[in-house]
Amino acid sequence: MSKIDLHDYVATVEDYPEPGVFFRDISPLMGDGPAYKQAIDQIVDFAKDLDVDLIAGPESRGFIVGSPLAYAMGIGFVPARKSGKLPRKAVSASYTLEYGGVNELEIHEDAIQPGQRVLIVDDLLATGGTINATRKIVEELGGVVAGVAFIIELEDLHGREKIMEAGEVPFVALMEY
Ligand code: PRP
Ligand code: ADE
Repeated sequence: MSKIDLHDYVATVEDYPEPGVFFRDISPLMGDGPAYKQAIDQIVDFAKDLDVDLIAGPESRGFIVGSPLAYAMGIGFVPARKSGKLPRKAVSASYTLEYGGVNELEIHEDAIQPGQRVLIVDDLLATGGTINATRKIVEELGGVVAGVAFIIELEDLHGREKIMEAGEVPFVALMEY
């Protein structure tokens, strides 16, 4: 089957949720079976030599990428949830967003075993705050970051540099804006 141009499945909304932000909405991509499947398959391909034990993704759009990826790879998914949602003992990290101020993510402390290789995924990389907070928790629990994967990277916000400052890891973004 011919390759789909995933850019055709991203809706750009100017000045949302606040002036100056170009919101890149992946809803059309998720809503189209072949486009969604291709995006997940491209990440599976990126991950094939990374010896991944677990996928982790931040709430909520990271779940949309991480869950089908974990299913496709036949491995588990670890949700990094926004604070106050997890019922058992958890490790947390706070971060700031491109918009919307400070936030906090948490992962159950027994969700990752020391030495497990974790692929961290999200729909979009902006400033890198979300992914670096997820990474911080994964590493605090003894996990090894096998790689990071995104559907979209917003290049002007230099999130990739922030990730690499925390330590070089294999990286993929399926689209750049
Ligand atoms: C969005 C997006 C990423 C994050 C990227 O999530 O899904 O997780 O922002 O921004 P950053 O690189 O500057 O941290 P958001 O916090 O809006 O939450 P949502 O997934 O629940 O919509
Ligand atoms: N999360 C952070 N910045 C974003 C943007 N510009 N579009 C969509 N999601 C985002």
